[in-house]
Amino acid sequence: MRRVRIDDYIFIERVDNHDELKNQLLDLIAKQDDAGEPGVSKLDYEHGDDWKREWVQLVIPSIISTIVPMIKSMGYDAMDLTNIWYQQYDADSRHGWHIHDTSFSGVYFLELDENSCSTRFCLPTDFNPFEVDAKEGDMILFPSHLFHMSPANKGNRKTSIAFNLKADCKTLNLPFDPECGYCRVL
Ligand SMILES: [Fe+2]
Repeated sequence: MRRVRIDDYIFIERVDNHDELKNQLLDLIAKQDDAGEPGVSKLDYEHGDDWKREWVQLVIPSIISTIVPMIKSMGYDAMDLTNIWYQQYDADSRHGWHIHDTSFSGVYFLELDENSCSTRFCLPTDFNPFEVDAKEGDMILFPSHLFHMSPANKGNRKTSIAFNLKADCKTLNLPFDPECGYCRVL
């Protein structure tokens, strides 16, 4: 087996209207009668493709406006959001190592105090865990195959909104380069 090491990105961007959204979203989430699962206090993952949920309709425009520049910067010009859900972590709640099965995954940190960890990642190249410097109000986007987890919460309640998307380059007009074939234009 031969392996070629490659680079990739984790994007971080603040959600412009986080201050305006935060309490509205938390109020809508509080109205939902969702259960938890081992490790996570409350979540609605099983309704992830229900786009009519009130909190989803409220947050979608901000998610799209935040991630489209990230997606475009990598040369993709099309994306399908496949599912979106919230997760709440009370004290000591956690979510173990896992991956997602789409192109990219994102997390919007709706409630995250200084004593809580945003997300811990691990690369398949070295398996050394690391964290990105994301704060409450930030959204991150990362390749879905990256191992990630949420360690035991040591802060106040943590609320994150997670989503998956499939990216594509359906309409990108790629010029022909006789040296290397079709090249991406950024
Ligand atoms: Fe995840």
